Amino acid sequence: MKQKHLLSLKDYSRADIEDILELARKVKSRPGDYRKALEGKTLAMIFQKPSTRTRVSFEVGMYQLGGHALFLGADAIQLNRGETVPDTARVLSRFVDGIMARVFAHQDILDLARHATVPVINGLSDLLHPCQVLADLFTLFERRGGLEGLKIAYVGDGNNVCHELMFAAVKLGMAMSVASPPGYEPNQLIVKSATRDAQKSNRSGPEVTSDPKEAVKGADVVYTDVWTSMGQEAEAPARAKAFQGFMVDQALMARAEPDAVFMHCLPAHRGEEVAAEVIDGPRSVVLDEAENRLHVQKALMVLMMSPPG
Ligand code: CP
Ligand code: NVA
Repeated sequence: MKQKHLLSLKDYSRADIEDILELARKVKSRPGDYRKALEGKTLAMIFQKPSTRTRVSFEVGMYQLGGHALFLGADAIQLNRGETVPDTARVLSRFVDGIMARVFAHQDILDLARHATVPVINGLSDLLHPCQVLADLFTLFERRGGLEGLKIAYVGDGNNVCHELMFAAVKLGMAMSVASPPGYEPNQLIVKSATRDAQKSNRSGPEVTSDPKEAVKGADVVYTDVWTSMGQEAEAPARAKAFQGFMVDQALMARAEPDAVFMHCLPAHRGEEVAAEVIDGPRSVVLDEAENRLHVQKALMVLMMSPPG
C-alpha cells in the first residue's frame, strides 16, 4: 500500500480501498492463513475517549495475527499530564510497529502521523472515522457484490461518521444524500472537498437537505448515528430538541428502496436516532458492521505493518 497512515479515506484512491476490502474478504474467509502475519509486531492503542468495538476489534485482531496490542488510556500514559503529542509519537515509534489512536481533536491525529516513524491509524477523531467506514463498505460489498451506483442516505448529525462516509461514497461511485437539522449539517469544507473529488469523475457530490424523506428517496442504505457524539454531552438536551423528526423509523425506511438496509456504527440510542423496530428488525445489518471492523482492520494492519515483499 502506498499510504503509510490511515488518517482518512479522503487520502486513498478507489484502488487502495478495493485492495483493503479484497484482503479483508480473504482474511475473513481463511483467518488461519494470517495467524502469523504480524508475528512479533506490536500496536499501541491510544484512547482519549471510550470504545467497545474499536478497542476490542484492534486488540483481538492483533492477537489473531500473531502480534500484540497495548491499550493506552490517555490517563494511563503521560498525555494528560502535558507530554506533547509529538513526543508521544516519537517515543512510541521507538517501541512499537504501529499506532492506532482515538482522539478528540483531529489535529492530534495529524500531529501523531507527522511525528511518528511508524504507521498511524485514525480510530476516530471529532472529524472523521475511517475504520468504521471501511467496515461499512465491506458489509455492503458482502451484501450487494459491489458498491458502484448504490445510494446511501445519512439521516442525522453531520458528524465524523457522516464526513467519512461522504469521502468514501464519492471515491467508490456511490451517491450520497444527507438530511440534517439546520445547524447540524456536515462541515461545509468536507462537503466541498467530497464534491471536488466527485467532479473529478464527472459525478455529483453529496446532496445536503433538511428533509429526511427527501434524502431516503431511492436509497439502498439508510444510515444514522447518535445525535450527541462523544465530547458533546453538554449539548445533549439542545440536540435532542433540534433532532425531533429525524428518527429513522419504519415509516422512513418504507420510503427507501424495498431492499434497502439499515446501518449504524453503534453505539445506538433506541427511541432517539433510530426506532427499536428498525435497528432490531430484518433490514438492520448493524452486527455485521460491528463484526467486520475485525476483518477489515486485520487486513489494514497486514497491509500497513508487515514487511514489504
Ligand atoms: N463504532 C465504534 O467505533 O464503536 P466504539 O466507539 O465502541 O469503538
Ligand atoms: N459519532 C459518534 C461515533 C461513535 C462511534 C461519536 O463520535 O461519538
